[in-house]
Amino acid sequence: MKTIKIDVLTLFPAMFSAVMSESMMWKARDLGLLDFQTHDIRNYAGNKHHKVDDAPYGGGGGMILKPDALVRAIDAVKAEDSAPVILLSPQGRPLTHEVASELAKQPRLILVCGHYEGVDERAIELAISDEISIGDYVLTGGELAALVLIDAVVRLIPGVLGAVGAQHRDSHADGTLEGPHYTRPAEFCGLGVPDVLTSGHHAEVDRWRRQQALKRTWERRPDLLEKATLSDDDRAYLAQLEDAPGD
Ligand code: ADE
Repeated sequence: MKTIKIDVLTLFPAMFSAVMSESMMWKARDLGLLDFQTHDIRNYAGNKHHKVDDAPYGGGGGMILKPDALVRAIDAVKAEDSAPVILLSPQGRPLTHEVASELAKQPRLILVCGHYEGVDERAIELAISDEISIGDYVLTGGELAALVLIDAVVRLIPGVLGAVGAQHRDSHADGTLEGPHYTRPAEFCGLGVPDVLTSGHHAEVDRWRRQQALKRTWERRPDLLEKATLSDDDRAYLAQLEDAPGD
């Protein structure tokens, strides 16, 4: 059974309590597939006021997370392990499906949440092995970014989604977006359900889903199609869309 241990170093451990105690993240923990723990960086401050930030050398606004407390915290949590130590940061490499899949293969991850204006560069040099960003915008801290990363990674661990998990059809799993979904009632506010979905022809349903996924990607994120895995049938369908987009 593949399991993952995730340790998070943060100044705000309470931010993780609700999310990690509900829904799929709780299920993953309950099944023993995820061992999750937070560690308060303030406990490693080494001074009686638990001060972990200071003004930046060179002036300018904001406060910087001090290197001593952070490196001590990372060393203590890491112990003898060789786990990747990932800083959530807007300067990191983008979080994509590929990155989440790569991280899901690891037995252990240590996530570090920055706060304030930034983290002293020497702590990054000495103790961080990877930096990941969840998008081109700036959050007030790394906690929400860490939660996004944890969710994206943990749902890929076999057994977390159980039988309902069709991860291979997820948006981005093969470089395309997912198409539309429908459930009961058969008619809602005058809108029906595509006939093929109630036809009982599984091969036709699969073909329709694939084409809807391609159409949606072509309409909304054509940039993804350049790197997507496409069959000859997929290419023929996309060529047809180029010729007659309304069909
Ligand atoms: N911390 C602040 N902004 C962030 C972002 N976009 N991604 C990851 N960590 C962050």
